[in-house]
Amino acid sequence: MAAGSLIPLVAGNWKMNGLAASRTEFAKVLAGAAELTGKAELMVCPPVTLIRDFAGAARGSGVTIGGQDCHADPSGAHTGDISAEMLADAGAGAVIVGHSERRTDHQETDAMVRAKAQAAFRAGLTAIVCVGEQRGQREARKTLEVVGAQLQGSLPDGATAAQLVIAYEPVWAIGSGLTPTPADVAEVHAFIRKRLSDRFSAAGGRIRILYGGSVKPANAGELLTISDVNGALVGGASLKATDFLGIAAIYR
Ligand code: 13P
Repeated sequence: MAAGSLIPLVAGNWKMNGLAASRTEFAKVLAGAAELTGKAELMVCPPVTLIRDFAGAARGSGVTIGGQDCHADPSGAHTGDISAEMLADAGAGAVIVGHSERRTDHQETDAMVRAKAQAAFRAGLTAIVCVGEQRGQREARKTLEVVGAQLQGSLPDGATAAQLVIAYEPVWAIGSGLTPTPADVAEVHAFIRKRLSDRFSAAGGRIRILYGGSVKPANAGELLTISDVNGALVGGASLKATDFLGIAAIYR
């Protein structure tokens, strides 16, 4: 499916950044969002401490708030964890699961990611499921094999296009300033689209596939206009409203 036939999504993953004072920066995102109405959706995934505040500020703006992770269970004795239901209760509409930093820092497996995505569906959240190869895997030409296995293991059955977003984030491109060539991005996104269509039939054609990894205003035009790239998951550049909006501006 050609990019452009789905409403693109530009999501900012703030990671472990943001204090109460960041409300000012977020207000600038909200102020710029109106220009994108009907053309692209914006989402900001702040740390969990800011979700309720940002969700309140975003009400009526069309900007969605997302979490960065959730526990698979709805509640229970899991000190320090946050459930999908808690994120929804705080005003989130989505949650990132299976980010490579979670897979690495917290040894999250595909099975755990799948359970978290299922938890997101249970709580009425959209799950943004991240996949992507490491540098050595790309060099060994194992990218499609790795991404295929992650998709197979991390996605719950029966997902709909409203419930699921995929983010292809090559691990070596995250925070490095490096990006794959447009041809490499096109190859992986076409592969993901095929897998989604095989597994989820018609819904598979409507599930958005984001690219993530060193996206900035200067390369957004090249990366986000590739076929089957339906938006971006942005890390560092999402912390500055002008950069974040500058990326989304390609859809204006
Ligand atoms: P950067 O945009 O900082 O490379 O991070 C990408 C990312 O990990 C988004 O989830």
